[in-house]
Amino acid sequence: MSGIARTQATGGAMIEALITWSSSIDDDAAFVREDLLGSAAHATMLGKTGIIPVEAARSLRGALLALDASAGATVPMTGEEDVHMAVEALLTRTVGPDVAGRLHTARSRNDQVALDLRLFARDRAATMLRATTALGLAMVERAEAETATLLAAYTHRQRAQPISAAFLLCAWTAQLTRAAETMAFALGRCNELALGAGACSGSSLPIDRTLTARLLGFPRITHNALDTVGDRDFALDLTWASARVMLALGKMSTDLVDFSTSEFAIVRLDGSIAAGSSMMPQKKNPDVFELVRGKSAHAVANVTHLLMLVKGLASGYNRDQQEDRRALLSSPPLVLGALDAVARSLPHVHFDRARGLASVADGFTQATDLAEALVQRGVPFREAYKAVGALVRQAVDAGTPLRALTLEQARAAHAGFDAEALAVLDPARAVAAKESLGGTGPASIARQIAALRSELTALAARAEAVPSLDQIARAIAQETL
Ligand code: ARG
Repeated sequence: MSGIARTQATGGAMIEALITWSSSIDDDAAFVREDLLGSAAHATMLGKTGIIPVEAARSLRGALLALDASAGATVPMTGEEDVHMAVEALLTRTVGPDVAGRLHTARSRNDQVALDLRLFARDRAATMLRATTALGLAMVERAEAETATLLAAYTHRQRAQPISAAFLLCAWTAQLTRAAETMAFALGRCNELALGAGACSGSSLPIDRTLTARLLGFPRITHNALDTVGDRDFALDLTWASARVMLALGKMSTDLVDFSTSEFAIVRLDGSIAAGSSMMPQKKNPDVFELVRGKSAHAVANVTHLLMLVKGLASGYNRDQQEDRRALLSSPPLVLGALDAVARSLPHVHFDRARGLASVADGFTQATDLAEALVQRGVPFREAYKAVGALVRQAVDAGTPLRALTLEQARAAHAGFDAEALAVLDPARAVAAKESLGGTGPASIARQIAALRSELTALAARAEAVPSLDQIARAIAQETL
């Protein structure tokens, strides 16, 4: 422990066990590069504004960028309270105390950690946004190949109405696209320069936050120093967006788990994505999708963790905030792992067209379409609904499919029926007729696919606008000083 952050006023040395217990160093290892680059940008700004001598700024920048080029691997992360102290202690040894002692000018660890975490969260938000939109685009492409695959849509997990598999894929993609939109929002919340807030009220020195923001690729600068050091909303938003992606993948997973059972049997999983049983030789289990659903628990817990952490905190920095780390660090790998697993698995998920068709062939799922055919012939909906209900009852009692209905039987239930009205009992006809906006008809699906594609492409572009850490390092190195 170098004792950098201690003075005579602090008092004698802190009990070693308490330093170890209160240290964040193990978790901080995840953002050493962010810390080094943030410091390199800060040193450059201090030199350019004349707050510290240019030679000192150059040597600080050079030492920090050299450490960054080794991906921070050479920063000894032991014996210090956090990554910020570890870097300053190392610089003290390498460039000497006179130069190293100038780096923390107009800066506090409070705005430094706020910067590091935003840089980390922004980078991961961009990575998650790229992966989420890429999967969404792969799903709509798959939808295009499944327009002729019919199956039942479910409400209350009971067969409801006939749809196409393309429509189901678009439904999954719509939810995933909203999650991507939430991720883009979280990215925006991370995309503000926090450095320059100081401990809690700014600096009396002529710092240039605009310059630091430019070097680090931040389009905006936080507005209020006191708010900035206590703000973890960006972390909350990132975990929330992460949970949203996991929940979207979770719903799709539940459908696939169900549909691949021998009871539904609408979907078949290749052996390459199915797991076996250690005891039952016949088993072919959908473990990948169960795990995607299961892992969403951790992602949701991370949101709750951060909500509990910030609830009741006073304005300004509070050391409690150090406990943000696990939630922030663990959400991105959960999301990226699940997105990768689903992206790899999707090509090995096959819709069984014959079974899908069989699930709607008996005609009962077309009961609403039959009632709507009467409505088209001028019958009030409730009257049509009751007439069809009676026909369904007759068919169930007779043990026959609704499709076996004769015109004579239909006309006995309601005089409005004609031969053309009964044609909707063909599931393909029923699906083709649902051309209302958002419906399962083919023209509607084509519109949905086009809209999802353009939304996903626009969202992916938001991720591309974020500079990588390597690009940031180059920008700092190239700044004239
Ligand atoms: N390790 C701390 C954290 O991660 C850094 C900020 C500490 N600030 C302080 N004044 N003790 O939150």
